[in-house]
Amino acid sequence: CGIVGYVGHRDAADFLLEGLHRLEYRGYDSAGVAVVEGKQVSVRKRVGRVNELAQLLEGSPVRGHIGIGHTRWATHGETNDANSHPHVGGNGEVILVHNGVIENYTSLRTQLQGLGYVFRTGTDTEVIAHLVALHLDEQIKLGEEADDPQTCLKAVELSLRKLKGTYGLAILFERHPEMIIAARNGSPMVVGIGKDEHFVASDASPLIGYTEEVVYLADHEMAILTPGSFELMHRDTGRMSPSVQSLEQVSTDIELGDFEHYMLKEIFEQPQTIENAMRGRFDEDEATAKFGGLNLTPQQLRRVDRIVLTACGTSWHAGLVGEYLLEEFARIPVEVEYASELRYRNPPLTDRTMVFAITQSGETADTLAAMRECKRKGLSTLAICNVVGSSIAREADGGIYLHAGPEIGVASTKAFTSQVTALVMLSLFLGRMRHLSYQAGKRIIRSLKAMPETIAKTLECHDQVQEVASRYWNLENFLYLGRLYNFPVALEGALKLKEISYIHAEGYPAAEMKHGPIALIEERTPSVFIVPRGGIYPKVISNMEEVRARKGPIIAIACEDDEKVAELADEVICVPEVEEHLQPLVTSIPLQLLAYHVALLRGCNVDRPRNLAKSVTVE
Ligand code: G6P
Repeated sequence: CGIVGYVGHRDAADFLLEGLHRLEYRGYDSAGVAVVEGKQVSVRKRVGRVNELAQLLEGSPVRGHIGIGHTRWATHGETNDANSHPHVGGNGEVILVHNGVIENYTSLRTQLQGLGYVFRTGTDTEVIAHLVALHLDEQIKLGEEADDPQTCLKAVELSLRKLKGTYGLAILFERHPEMIIAARNGSPMVVGIGKDEHFVASDASPLIGYTEEVVYLADHEMAILTPGSFELMHRDTGRMSPSVQSLEQVSTDIELGDFEHYMLKEIFEQPQTIENAMRGRFDEDEATAKFGGLNLTPQQLRRVDRIVLTACGTSWHAGLVGEYLLEEFARIPVEVEYASELRYRNPPLTDRTMVFAITQSGETADTLAAMRECKRKGLSTLAICNVVGSSIAREADGGIYLHAGPEIGVASTKAFTSQVTALVMLSLFLGRMRHLSYQAGKRIIRSLKAMPETIAKTLECHDQVQEVASRYWNLENFLYLGRLYNFPVALEGALKLKEISYIHAEGYPAAEMKHGPIALIEERTPSVFIVPRGGIYPKVISNMEEVRARKGPIIAIACEDDEKVAELADEVICVPEVEEHLQPLVTSIPLQLLAYHVALLRGCNVDRPRNLAKSVTVE
């Protein structure tokens, strides 16, 4: 979900709506705002996208200079108007928006109901609103000054102590309409400092263009914002002096330009984004790569005897490519772990294990938690991350930024190829400290340097892919098959199709198909084979024969002029020939395009697929 808040002199609703648009990638089940209008707080909320909220506000405007807003990705409680945020506590004294999950909400709800609080929604958030209202009431009964903002702060503090789970919060008070209290525990919040105005949001994107100065809240911190003041408090240690950071000017390049969708735009940005991931990172003399941000000495790096890559979704697939690369070039044993598993497992890790969290957003809750768990155990935790200043980027001991620019399409495309590029370079770097020869290093650098051009050439398959999509878009099951470096590509291709076209698709190692998925093969189940030339090529060809023998249609991603593939496949999509370990960069591209065109033909919302969120900040 996304949170935004404003106190100052601007029209709050305008700022909040723009902010919610920028945050929409974090969830779009529903959206809402609360704006202080004179002495009352008006709430407008609605199921659906931010545009629908904008329409609601057109018909029923709210005018004021202070307000909070939210875009929701439902966890507890179905998607309906009532469950949308903001939520109101007590008799309207407290109005708040929340990201995260409150784990003990059922027992809190029962207690509050026992005290006479009436619940109007099925969300976990509503308990926070009533809890704050309860404590406010109790404080006043204890003789605290109702007109003192400190009373509100105290009520929030007492309430937060009762919550188990995660939250990012922005809270308005009916009696103190000049103030927002923001709080964080496990769900990111950032405060923007302006002149006679303050901003708050769950990530920096809504603040871009409004302020350069930001303060990231840490867990158990609260910010008290009025137009002219900003106080930072820690739950246990009280008042703190904020550490103000400059918001690195991230391009707000959120214009579609000539493209119909962000996903297509981002697919076509890949020659550039891959170049950006490599810029300044080659050391030609030593035939290796260099990274400014790993913060580890060569001695420390040479001691590493095991690497754990942890991630979710597409980033996990990039990790799988990384495993093959790192083991091959650096000969360090690598494990790739789903962050959601790693955080609750207890694998044997030593001080010679290096952990990399791979993440586009830097905010995925499970990835952050897995990284923290490893950190707690004393390991060096590093990040491969796209979003500068994100929670994971800030908490990691060091890492590699992707510099891919904002990725807006929910289905990740350019971030994947940038992650793979970073992992190739990391393997080269660690390899050259160990077994990899100078010549091999030179060869890898040469191929990488040619990559932007190779990707531009790969994108020429666009028309071909579009034609293929037009012949297969109405089928309901797809298999994606590849081996070695193209096995993770098969997983990623299947994930792309599933995410945006809602077709069931499975990725498999091509040979392993015999042990199960082959039972699915029939005339209406196409297999997408990733079969570029290379060492394993003849083996994949025989896997294709197995599918053909069972009358399964074959779509092949293959090198140009491959007659053998042309004989076996119903469709061939051609890609340039590159060395094996770089193939994922090339072969993933037609699969991104295929998913895009199939989804388009099925009338799906390509950039905002149902039920998914760009950044999953809940467990
Ligand atoms: C969500 C997104 C995926 C993404 C995954 C991990 O599920 O929809 O596209 O791969 O989260 O996100 P991260 O930002 O950590 O790479």
